[in-house]
Amino acid sequence: MTDTRAQLLGLLLDKGQKALALPVGSLWQDIVDRGPAGEDRLARTLAGQFLAGEETTAAVCDALASRLSHARARDCLALQAEEEHRHAELYRRYLAKSGGKSTVGGLGKDPASEAGPSLLSPARDAILAWQGPPEAVLLAVQVIIEGEALAFQETARRFTHCRRFAVLSHTIARDEARHVAFGRVYLPVALQALTRRERVEIHSWLRGLWFACMERLPQVAPLPWASGPLARHWARAWARRRWSHWDAQLALLGISPSATQPMGADPDLAP
Ligand SMILES: [Fe+2]
Ligand SMILES: [Fe+2]
Repeated sequence: MTDTRAQLLGLLLDKGQKALALPVGSLWQDIVDRGPAGEDRLARTLAGQFLAGEETTAAVCDALASRLSHARARDCLALQAEEEHRHAELYRRYLAKSGGKSTVGGLGKDPASEAGPSLLSPARDAILAWQGPPEAVLLAVQVIIEGEALAFQETARRFTHCRRFAVLSHTIARDEARHVAFGRVYLPVALQALTRRERVEIHSWLRGLWFACMERLPQVAPLPWASGPLARHWARAWARRRWSHWDAQLALLGISPSATQPMGADPDLAP
C-alpha cells in the first residue's frame, strides 16, 4: 500500500474515532432535539429495512476485520463494525419511539422485531460463508451495499415526512460516506493482488448476490401497488439497470467476466 493511501486511511480512521467518541445516548438525544417525530408508516418501514442492513453490515465487518492483512485497513473495518452496531441501535430507538415495530426480521437482538422479508437476507449468509479473498466481501459491502444504501437514503428522505427520520438518516449517512470512502481508498490497490481467476469468480459471485437480493424487492417495497407481475417486472428492470451501474464500477477495478486489468495496474499481479 502506498504512503498516500496509508495516510488517507489514517485520516478516515481519525474522523471515525472522533465521531464514535460521542456516546450513542447523546447522539440520539441530538436527533430527537432536532427532529420531531411524525406519524409516517413509510418512514417506519424504511427504517426497518435500514436496520436489517445495518445488522448485516455489522455482522460482516465483525467477521471480516481480522482477515485483512493490512493493519490500518483492519482498524478501519473494526471501527466501521462499531459504527454499524451504533446505527442499528439508532434505528431501533427510532422504531421504538415512533410507535412502530420493525417490519423486517433482524438478527434477533430486538425483541420487538416482527419476522418479515429483508432485502439483504439472501446476501447475509452467502457473505458470511465466503471463504475466498476478503476483498470480495469489501466489494459487496463497501462498494455495492453501502453505495446503494447511500443513494437510497437520499430518495428515502424525499419521500418521507417524518422530520426525525430525515435527521437520523442524515446523521448516519455521514458515517456511511466514510465507509464508502474506505473502499475507494483501499480496494484499488488491494485488488491488484488477485489472480485473473479470482476476479472472474468474484464478479460472478457479486452478480449472483445482487440478483438474489433484488428478487425480493417486490416483497419489501413499501408501495401499495408493489405486488403482482407488474411489480416483478418493474423490480427486475430496476435491478438490471442498477446492476449495469455497479458492473461498470467493478470493471474499473478489474472485476469483470473477462477480468481485464484496470488502467495503470501492474499486469504481473494478475496471471
Ligand atoms: Fe451503517
Ligand atoms: Fe456503513
